[in-house]
Amino acid sequence: MKCSFCERDAIINIRYNGTHLCKEHFNRFLERRVRLEFRNQLIIEKPIKIVVALSGGKDSSVALYLTKKILGKRRDVEVEAVTIDEGIGGYRNLTLEAAKKLTEQLKVKHEVVSFKDKFGITIDEISKNGQLLPCSYCGVFRRKSINDASIELDADYVVTGLNLDDSVQTVIMNMARGDLDRLERLGPHFKRKDGMIPRLQPLRKIPEREVLIYAIVNNIPFSHAECPYASDAIRNEFREAVDKWEERTPGTKFAILNSFDEIRNLLYSREDKKEIKRCKICGAPSAGEICKSCSMLMDLKV
Ligand code: FES
Ligand code: ZN
Ligand code: ZN
Repeated sequence: MKCSFCERDAIINIRYNGTHLCKEHFNRFLERRVRLEFRNQLIIEKPIKIVVALSGGKDSSVALYLTKKILGKRRDVEVEAVTIDEGIGGYRNLTLEAAKKLTEQLKVKHEVVSFKDKFGITIDEISKNGQLLPCSYCGVFRRKSINDASIELDADYVVTGLNLDDSVQTVIMNMARGDLDRLERLGPHFKRKDGMIPRLQPLRKIPEREVLIYAIVNNIPFSHAECPYASDAIRNEFREAVDKWEERTPGTKFAILNSFDEIRNLLYSREDKKEIKRCKICGAPSAGEICKSCSMLMDLKV
């Protein structure tokens, strides 16, 4: 199959707009949308620092590569990367290796924060004595580690690799649960909150399949390793459902995310009325007296 725009062979078929694209036209098509997201989400009024939360998987690796490619040449933007080492044997070492390779290649400063150093316990250890699934602790501790590291690095923004599929699954899941608080926190964040570094999501309109193909055709180092504790059965059900809707009506995922964007301001006005407290133990912004991360650590008796 030939590219819809030139004589070269196509490498991908984009169903939602009916085109076939060669590598050059695919790169241009994807990068144009990521540039637009940066333009919509980012405010540069003074020199800023952006920290990319780099796991070493395809999404965050592409996010770092494109952040560097699109913003790295600007004198007023500094790009760094942070990787969280949760202490998961047979998995994190592989992704960490990929993350190191990419940051060296891009000449980006790279910091690694380990759960063991920060919290005194690894996810492997938690998996043996925690009351909840390892993933519940992992998500809370990872968010806190990234936010704390970004504050320490004096960052203005944190970039995450959240793609279109992740975003849509999260929107539908939280709507189905009636969990508007989580929906508010999803981001991207246009408002700066005390103690919370706003998150940028430059890949939020890029389907997962396109992120993967972009990583492969551009030889971006990343790891295919999957976390041995990942068992989000409910998310998998939502993934299947959303994929089925997209299969039947291409463009459904964009429509869901665009609808979410339309109602986002309503969520924010609801949030403005809420009082934000500070955790009595660590001082981080918290809904209750003690933040989730500190109360989990207390339960684990660390
Ligand atoms: Fe949740 Fe690894 S512990 S994905
Ligand atoms: Zn082409
Ligand atoms: Zn706390």
